[in-house]
Amino acid sequence: MAANGINVLTDYTMRGGEHPHIETNEIEEEITGAAMQDFLSNPHFKGKSLRWAYNFKHFHTIYSSGHPMIRDWLYKHRPYPQHIEIEPTTACDIKCTMCEHTWWDHEKIKTLRYDEYVGIMEQFPQLQQIGLTGIGTSYLNPWYMKMIDYCTERDIGIELFDTFKDLNEERAEHLIKSSAYKVYVSLDAATKDTYEKIRVGSNWDKVMSNIKTFDRVKKRLKQHFPIFCFHFIITKYNIHECVKYLDMVKDLNIDVAFCQFSRMLHPYAETLDQFVHIPEGLEAAVRQRGAELGIQVVWNGNATLEKDKAPVEACTVWEQPFIFSDGTVIPCCSLNEENDRDHQRNVASYGNVLEKNFREIWQGWDFNNMIDHLDQGKTAPNCVNCILYRLPEGPYYGEASEDGAANIEKYDAECDIEYDDKGNIDTVLVDGEVLHQVEKFEA
Ligand SMILES: C[S@@+](CC[C@H](N)C(=O)[O-])C[C@H]1O[C@@H](n2cnc3c(N)ncnc32)[C@H](O)[C@@H]1O
Ligand code: SF4
Ligand code: SF4
Repeated sequence: MAANGINVLTDYTMRGGEHPHIETNEIEEEITGAAMQDFLSNPHFKGKSLRWAYNFKHFHTIYSSGHPMIRDWLYKHRPYPQHIEIEPTTACDIKCTMCEHTWWDHEKIKTLRYDEYVGIMEQFPQLQQIGLTGIGTSYLNPWYMKMIDYCTERDIGIELFDTFKDLNEERAEHLIKSSAYKVYVSLDAATKDTYEKIRVGSNWDKVMSNIKTFDRVKKRLKQHFPIFCFHFIITKYNIHECVKYLDMVKDLNIDVAFCQFSRMLHPYAETLDQFVHIPEGLEAAVRQRGAELGIQVVWNGNATLEKDKAPVEACTVWEQPFIFSDGTVIPCCSLNEENDRDHQRNVASYGNVLEKNFREIWQGWDFNNMIDHLDQGKTAPNCVNCILYRLPEGPYYGEASEDGAANIEKYDAECDIEYDDKGNIDTVLVDGEVLHQVEKFEA
């Protein structure tokens, strides 16, 4: 890779010193050059440090880049993780219908203590980015804000997901002044009625007011970061509101970076009545409305039709391991939400960072055996429940859902959407029966 002319300013100490591999140095120099350019001339980076800009660029260059060169470099060198996800707590005080937390029957609630957290973080001296969300409501961890402050002191870029039911002016200001680069509000409906049926225990009006507070505080502080994004999990309960959702977001009249649509990650027995495969044409309809309204739409990889998925050897998301609040390390976050934490601990996991040093785990047999399998396009034992990539054996929806597999196939074939002449969703049919007849709204 060619450096871009300002690599004379390259700060080797910032990126952990000279690397033993020529390719690694070249990639790092490219990232440093791009970070320097943004730091010097991009107004969005005003108030951010050069290290923060470098960390931001690092994550966005490496994580899930899809670039074959980066893919090959990752598989060859298996660099020590510079991006991770940590689950602050598994406590939650509401019951969303599509979330495994609602259906756990024997999982013990665990809140990561601050000393445990620091013990983990210190094992990643070159950490650039962290996802600080797990299966739970992070605000129920009493050290959550302190955990964020710890990252801010190290200029580590933070990504967060939150319902916004617990946000207030003070918390908004704290987040906006932190090193967070992206905050998602998890909001899966265009109407109060549908929202409160899905997010049982949350309140639409309060969440709407908190969303506006966040936008107002960002504007008062004149900050571009963290960018503000909306996350919609598609289920049978809300599939008819996907297009209308964009109109609702537009009407909020706030700054939104994008709206992301995801399928439920995994089907399992308790949620089969709401799990829906993404029907052909839905993505195009949502994207078209997004283009008309000037709202960017992100279609999550898990909502990609099976036939359009990339083969498993293209996977690089293992470079960002996911750490449970009890220390269990799993290959990536997409193995969550399968309502089988026992399977995740016993089969998917390749170690526990509260029991063993992470470097030993990363250099151990379990992790390297997994990467060898993926590199050769084979299903790694850890990844049998993968839903992001195409496994050689075809789709497998996980042990927890074996009973429901036949039903899932049925939805695959028979969930259908009819559109009106403007491309809006008109009718959603399952098994030939009308599930939703969409109420008309003004374009
Ligand atoms: C598990 S939640 C934890 C953070 C917070 N409690 C929230 O709801 O935003 C993280 C993200 O997972 C999403 N989610 C919930 N159930 C899901 C499912 N079955 N499949 C995929 N994502 C899901 C949520 O909507 C949220 O955006
Ligand atoms: S989606 Fe978030 S808020 Fe809802 S039950 Fe799961 S963890 Fe709790
Ligand atoms: S589960 Fe899938 S996406 Fe995750 S690391 Fe394994 S192959 Fe990659």
